[in-house]
Amino acid sequence: MTDTSTDGVLDRALRVVVRGSGYVGLPTAALFADAGFNVTAVDMKSKIVESVNGGVSTVNEPSLQERVSRNVRAGKLKAVLNSGTTLNQGDAIVISVQTPIDKNKKPNLSFLMNTLENVGKNLKKEMLVAICSTVLPRTMQEKIKPLLESLSGLKADTDFYLAYVPERIAPGKALKEKTLRKSELKCQYSQ
Ligand SMILES: NC(=O)c1ccc[n+]([C@@H]2O[C@H](COP(=O)([O-])OP(=O)(O)OC[C@H]3O[C@@H](n4cnc5c(N)ncnc54)[C@H](O)[C@@H]3O)[C@@H](O)[C@H]2O)c1
Repeated sequence: MTDTSTDGVLDRALRVVVRGSGYVGLPTAALFADAGFNVTAVDMKSKIVESVNGGVSTVNEPSLQERVSRNVRAGKLKAVLNSGTTLNQGDAIVISVQTPIDKNKKPNLSFLMNTLENVGKNLKKEMLVAICSTVLPRTMQEKIKPLLESLSGLKADTDFYLAYVPERIAPGKALKEKTLRKSELKCQYSQ
């Protein structure tokens, strides 16, 4: 794949879709919108979608309310239900659905796998998929990459970009912690 990784970034033409608009996803969506991108925040809860589209943040975090309201008013941020047709119109898909630990202390990947199935079926060449949800080591290589490749018929690194975003923020303090050291920004693709 030719290196088109900066296409659409510098001119802010890249359309960002954030799937899962909770403590991690909504601040992420608001920050991309603040940076000038057109952002779609997807969630399965209609309460979240309606609230965000009304300019009201569903996550209680300093300055997030103001960022959500400003970007919704400016048309940079909108929310849609995960059944909506706009889901597949993004160039960069950020996945931040929950991966809770079950009673056997195993991560419940059902929300993530559900989302990946839909993303994989609609994946197009040159798209970027970034996983923000927490997963165990090797999940990218052993589950996520093969699933996306088999559903799409495309190859990671050759046809589309795939990245893992290491945990870097505490829910509820995402904006406070958004200033990162350069060394923390590297993708841990080996996850
Ligand atoms: N990368 C990081 O810096 C970082 C930091 C902390 C936590 N995390 C991880 O991020 C993930 C999300 O954490 P959170 O605190 O935001 O969880 P959360 O429960 O607040 O938000 C998850 C959202 O995803 C939605 N969702 C679930 N399935 C969906 C689907 N199929 N389509 C659309 N929306 C769907 C839920 O309705 C919910 O609103 C977890 O795995 C968590 O461990 C990542």
